Amino acid sequence: MTAQSDRLRDLFIVGLRNAYAVEKQALSIMTPQVSRIEHYPEVADQLRRHIEETNQQIARLDELLEGFDTRGSLLKEAALSLSGTMAAIAHVPAGDEILKNSFANYAFEHFEIAAYKSLLTLADDGGFSSATSLLSQSLGEEERMAAWIDDALPTITRRYATLYAEGGSSAAKV
Ligand SMILES: [Fe+2]
Repeated sequence: MTAQSDRLRDLFIVGLRNAYAVEKQALSIMTPQVSRIEHYPEVADQLRRHIEETNQQIARLDELLEGFDTRGSLLKEAALSLSGTMAAIAHVPAGDEILKNSFANYAFEHFEIAAYKSLLTLADDGGFSSATSLLSQSLGEEERMAAWIDDALPTITRRYATLYAEGGSSAAKV
C-alpha cells in the first residue's frame, strides 16, 4: 500500500472507532432514560427498540474494525474525545426532563446520522466498499429513530403541557 492509501485507511478506522464511542455513549444516555419513564410509554418503547438497534450497531462496528489489522499503526493514540459535549446536552435533571431528553435525543440521532454519512463517504472514496452495507443499515436505523422523534415531539410536548397545567406531582414526572 502507498503511504497515501495507508493514511486513508487510518482515517476510516479512526472514524469507525469514533462511531463506536458515540454508540456506547448513546447506550449510556438511553438506558437511564427508559427506566425513569412513566407517562410516555411510546417513548419508552422506541428507546427500548433503539437500544437493541444500538447494540447491533456496536456489533457491526466491531465486525468492521476486526477486519482491519491495526497492529503497529499509530491509531492507538487516536483519542476518543467527543464525550464531554454530547453528555452535557443529554443530562439535564429538571421538571421538563421529557422535553430536554427529547431535544437531546433528536440532536444525538442527527450526530450519529452525520457520522455514518461521513463514514460511508470515506468507505466509497477509500475503497472500503465491503463496509457499505453494514454502515448503511445503521444509518437507516438512526434516520428512522430521528424521524420518529421528529414526528412524536408535538405529542410529547402536549402531554407534558397537559400534565404541567394540571399541576400535582405527575407534572414533574417523566
Ligand atoms: Fe441512534
